[in-house]
Amino acid sequence: MGKNQFLSLLVATLFLIPITANASNYFADKDLTTVGVYYYPEQWKESEWNRDFKKMAELGFEFTHFAEFAWAQLEPKEGQYNFSWLDKAIELAAKNNLKVILCTSTATPPVWLTRKYPEILITNEDGTKLDHGARQHASFSNPLYRKLSLVMVAELAKRYGKDKRVIGWQLDNEPAVQFDYGEAAEKGFREFLRNKYPTIDSLNAAWGTAFWSQLYSDFEEINLPKRAMMFMNPHQIMDYRRFAANQTTLFLDMQSECIKQYASSRQFVTTNFIPNYEEGHIGACHKLDFHSYTRYMVFGDRTGVGDKGYRLGDPLRIPYANDFFRPIDGMYGVMELQPGQVNWGEVNAQPLPGAVRLWLWHVFAGGSDFTCTYRYRQPLAGMEQYHYGIVGPDGVTPTPGGLEYARFIQEIKQLRKEYKPNAQQPATYLARKAAILFNHENAWNIERQKQNKNWDTEKHIMRYYGALKSFGAPVDVISEKDDFTSYPFMVVPAYQLIDDELVARWKAYAKAGGHLVLTCRSGHKDRFGRLFEGKFGCKLFDLIGAEMLFYDLQHPNRTDNIQMGHKEYEWYTWGEVFAPYTDTEVWGTYQGDFYTGKPAIIHRQYGKGTVTYVGVDSKNGDIEKEVLRKLYKLANVAVLDLPRGVLVDYRDGFGIAMNYADTDYYFPLTPNAKILIGENPLSTVEVLVWKE
Ligand code: GAL
Repeated sequence: MGKNQFLSLLVATLFLIPITANASNYFADKDLTTVGVYYYPEQWKESEWNRDFKKMAELGFEFTHFAEFAWAQLEPKEGQYNFSWLDKAIELAAKNNLKVILCTSTATPPVWLTRKYPEILITNEDGTKLDHGARQHASFSNPLYRKLSLVMVAELAKRYGKDKRVIGWQLDNEPAVQFDYGEAAEKGFREFLRNKYPTIDSLNAAWGTAFWSQLYSDFEEINLPKRAMMFMNPHQIMDYRRFAANQTTLFLDMQSECIKQYASSRQFVTTNFIPNYEEGHIGACHKLDFHSYTRYMVFGDRTGVGDKGYRLGDPLRIPYANDFFRPIDGMYGVMELQPGQVNWGEVNAQPLPGAVRLWLWHVFAGGSDFTCTYRYRQPLAGMEQYHYGIVGPDGVTPTPGGLEYARFIQEIKQLRKEYKPNAQQPATYLARKAAILFNHENAWNIERQKQNKNWDTEKHIMRYYGALKSFGAPVDVISEKDDFTSYPFMVVPAYQLIDDELVARWKAYAKAGGHLVLTCRSGHKDRFGRLFEGKFGCKLFDLIGAEMLFYDLQHPNRTDNIQMGHKEYEWYTWGEVFAPYTDTEVWGTYQGDFYTGKPAIIHRQYGKGTVTYVGVDSKNGDIEKEVLRKLYKLANVAVLDLPRGVLVDYRDGFGIAMNYADTDYYFPLTPNAKILIGENPLSTVEVLVWKE
């Protein structure tokens, strides 16, 4: 890449495309971030509320969070509302200088509702039904449940929509994609298909039903596909997943529209998504003001780095969520962040002292506008006994995590004094900016026909993400609705489902100077999940400058290698073998089998940019990292070489480095850097904050 080109890309990076949501509408930029905590007034004696809010405020919290699961208390009988307790709680919170986020309680319908309208209960794939007594047992695709929910939500919004003490709304709780096999869902699915396919014949063609005598003559003959049936039609399952994701999206959008009818525009509407990226509903709601997420780091099966890494969690877990959620609306918040031990993991270990503070800084480093924690008091009864809070079971003694929250809040309050409007991220950092192009449908499609049980789409993506973060690169996980042009580098991992328009956009991106990296399993199928009628992978040949000869799946007991430069790297699951065109460079070749010496990784100049195709997947991420390192070098973009567990981000003129590794790390600060918090070298669990 020439110098001018590089400069123009850098300029493009500095003037990113305008973003939809505006954080300044809801949060003051000069506050950097604000911290809050869940409280359930309905669970505690009214006489204790004021004491609790007072203590919350003393610990530094600036907002609290009410009415998440309180439908039974808000509407004790159908059509009879009781807001007096919530009025009082909001008033006391305000008296203690705490703002309030209100929730819509639709994750927990009251028993009168469930008994009177049992058809709203979710039906499992085996025909059994969920019941009252837990939570999240009502179906989002049930029109009656939607109606009943909206009636209650409208009452709440009418009462509190103009209330200045209420800053925003959280819809439902961790709304996920449900697989409800009830009658209403089945009817809805048929409707969805009728809208999608003009005729039953077009559906038959899209689903390949000529095979195995699966032909349909009427939409009414189609049932919800049984996912447990091993040989169930994969195209039908993909449409079912689209439908199911859409049901959650619609339910949230309906609630949001309902609130916005009554609420002031100062109040935001969001919800607390679990970052289950592949479910397909995150980013799909059009009526939310921004997306928020929930994060739990220590619950047994997350090993992290080193012997005690399980007490800190996977170091990429928070940054990936930051980088996934922020680009959706240009801002994000974190609605739940673990304050200490949870009660639902396989091994609910104590986090390492300092871990809670480290996570808080990490959420902040990605650019979040707020962090809220689950929950203030440790519950004495119910399913969440043993779950830590900010204070312990006596209701007054702060837990270690509670004190770490208090410390972080004080540190942020100090940092606010250093705030300078419009502070820029360093040019060296921006020059490394990369996008990862993501579409959950690729993972859905691969999942049903993996070809190798060891393939894992999320892990495949994380190998590239981890490499980019070790370079100290800012990363945005983007979707096809986004503009690609502002990213000097774009990784497109395992992008199985494509169309001509997308390929044309990739070509235009590279032609204009972008560095495009496509990875194995990309471009094999159309959007219905059908292979193209042509040579395998043919749609990409003239972009990548090679034909694919065949693909192979690595046997779990073998360790064959890829030769790249003078080194060999192990490959793991899927490998594509290429016949390159004359102008295409071969970066890596297979070793150790009947196709030894054949290309696995290819690279070419494309217009003003480049296209790299990595035909293999590794286990340890070394191949992926080496390819990206080579590419950045070629583009003349200097990168860092951070060890696993050390991460860096910049926001608002501050650099923030975090250490999840088990050894100290001397962070390479520039000579102008002035340390504001922490020490260099950076020890395990520590944070370094500086300004340039
Ligand atoms: C979350 C959930 C909260 C609470 C928490 C406990 O997943 O949204 O309501 O149950 O887990 O860790």
